[in-house]
Amino acid sequence: MGQFDAPEACLAAAVEWNQVERVRWMARVNDVESHDDGDVFWTYSPREHWPGNQIVGAQFGATVARQRVAELLRHHLERRTACNWAIGSATEPAELGVILRENGFSCRIHCRAMAAALAPQPVNLESIPSVDFQQSYVPVSLQPITTSRRRAQFDGLVAVGRLRPQRVWYFGAIDSSIPVGTATLFEGAGVAGIYDVEVIPSHRGRGIATQLVLAAMRLAGEHGFKTMVLSATAAGQGVYERLGFREVGVLSSWRYGRMRQMAA
Ligand SMILES: CC(C)(COP(=O)(O)OP(=O)(O)OC[C@H]1O[C@@H](n2cnc3c(N)ncnc32)[C@H](O)[C@@H]1OP(=O)(O)O)[C@@H](O)C(=O)NCCC(=O)NCCS
Repeated sequence: MGQFDAPEACLAAAVEWNQVERVRWMARVNDVESHDDGDVFWTYSPREHWPGNQIVGAQFGATVARQRVAELLRHHLERRTACNWAIGSATEPAELGVILRENGFSCRIHCRAMAAALAPQPVNLESIPSVDFQQSYVPVSLQPITTSRRRAQFDGLVAVGRLRPQRVWYFGAIDSSIPVGTATLFEGAGVAGIYDVEVIPSHRGRGIATQLVLAAMRLAGEHGFKTMVLSATAAGQGVYERLGFREVGVLSSWRYGRMRQMAA
């Protein structure tokens, strides 16, 4: 894995497995309840605090898939908590989305799985007037940390950044001491993944996301990775395509929320 000339299906699987590895890595932080069932991995929090209730990497045989979905959903329904389920090109069975829908899940977001080759030569970064770029094991928060949920998320991300060996790097863009942009690099499953790319509305269209992604690509290249992967929203797709990413598959995020449970 990790060669950009690999078959499309391998690249698509790499995007999903990088995401699965990231959830597993987050689950190494103290106090995160996690379940490695062999055919799926999931994290659980009764209060749904960071990293939330996430089910990833399903590898169900076709004959047991319906039963396994029902079992995992029941765990959440009995505790009246939301259940989030990510599926991608490597998920088995391929029709898991259909089964999730049959069980009352709805698709929250459908993203493009994208991959790019990392150039052997160093990436050149450009400066942007009044914006400083930083790289740290401590994340930048674009929102004030005013609620217990945000505090739990921030503390969780800091704890993940401190795990060793280091596999997570946070990139931030700062304008006059105000955080204006973020990106996260996670190295796992033989590829480098980019997550949490966001720029505050007042600072968009100035190339900040482009520079944050390039900084992550440069570091991943220095670490010897050949392939960069990500899951792109419609808003981010253009930025990534200009940086050499191409679509290799799909990733979707499904949810059975608490509102639905109350209505049932
Ligand atoms: C997607 C997102 C991160 C882009 O951030 P950004 O800093 O505006 O991105 P860039 O400035 O690098 O690129 C955006 C556009 O500005 C253009 N641009 C880049 N540098 C520029 C410059 N110096 N002058 C003028 N335009 C420029 C780019 O060509 C791009 O054009 P497009 O909109 O036609 O694609 C931002 O819109 C966002 O946070 N959206 C919400 C969260 C989200 O969807 N994140 C993506 C997850 S995959």
